[in-house]
Amino acid sequence: MQSSPLVWHNGKLKPLHEATVHVGAHALHYGSSVFEGIRVYATPDGPRYFRLVDHTERLLLSAKVYDLDIPYSREAINRACEDVVAANGLASAYVRPIAYRAGFTFSLAPSRDVPVEFAVIAIEWGSMHGAQALEDGVDVCVSSWNRAAPNTYPTGVKAGGNYLSSQLIAQEAVRGGFAEGIALAPGGCLSEGAGENLFIVRGGKIYTPPVGASILAGITRDSVLTLARERGIEVIEQSLPREFLYFADEVFMTGTAAEVTPVRSVDRKPVGAGKPGEVTRALQKAFFGLFDGSTANTHGWLTPIANHEHVGSSQGWLRFDPADAQATAQMEAA
Ligand SMILES: Cc1ncc(COP(=O)(O)O)c(C=O)c1O
Repeated sequence: MQSSPLVWHNGKLKPLHEATVHVGAHALHYGSSVFEGIRVYATPDGPRYFRLVDHTERLLLSAKVYDLDIPYSREAINRACEDVVAANGLASAYVRPIAYRAGFTFSLAPSRDVPVEFAVIAIEWGSMHGAQALEDGVDVCVSSWNRAAPNTYPTGVKAGGNYLSSQLIAQEAVRGGFAEGIALAPGGCLSEGAGENLFIVRGGKIYTPPVGASILAGITRDSVLTLARERGIEVIEQSLPREFLYFADEVFMTGTAAEVTPVRSVDRKPVGAGKPGEVTRALQKAFFGLFDGSTANTHGWLTPIANHEHVGSSQGWLRFDPADAQATAQMEAA
């Protein structure tokens, strides 16, 4: 993977080889990092971030769970994300902000003075499963690995350590000749892919596992559900047994990296007609239309690179109690 030459690291743009970590860094040993994947799309008006504000919000909430004190404000994080794209002259990008416990300690309960560092890397990256996959769909399997139970570690937090689970799911799938693996939640119902949320279409309605099914509440998931509702498509968030995958007319997955990827087979059984269906196509059109202007940006999801005025308001990718929002704001202000 080729990073763009300049990386934002601890307050400065620097060449990639200078943005290094200590081998004793806590995050390297124990997965104590929180991160985001965010896309910048080339639009007719120039490069635009897709839901930067919401990704930063999720990053800060992830950090809150692990008492990881990111030494930069929300505004500075947004600006760093913008600066790394601008400095590298990227028209489109996949951007990876990451905060990590950089200090050298083997303690499992590190004190808050163990330093936390912050970096933003930008790469040029097409869709995770390739452009053809967006057209034809991908072949997936159900993984022998389950997602973590909610009382083990939080899957709704985008922490580095969580991705050991995703690696096992993805590696097993690739070994079996599949593009991706779908994991079950601890109770046996469907959860999500190694790096994507999961959707099933049956009888013109969209079904997707709820946030309680050990998923990461994806920002693309929220975007697609919003676009679907706006187009009069009924959306049902509920526990779904595995056989729904085989009963489905259509299956698709969403994620910042995977965008809106149709699934054409599960466990070598064709999904519906074995090619992307009408609802998946309509949602792909609506989603990608945001970036060529054919879908109106009515939610303020697209923001320019050099304009910092948009910073600060969450647009509700995860609908949570306003008291939490207030507590987060207070933590930020402190
Ligand atoms: C485990 C997992 N689920 C779902 C998603 C999709 O989330 P988003 O749409 O916010 O990228 C991702 C990607 O970030 C992921 O890693």
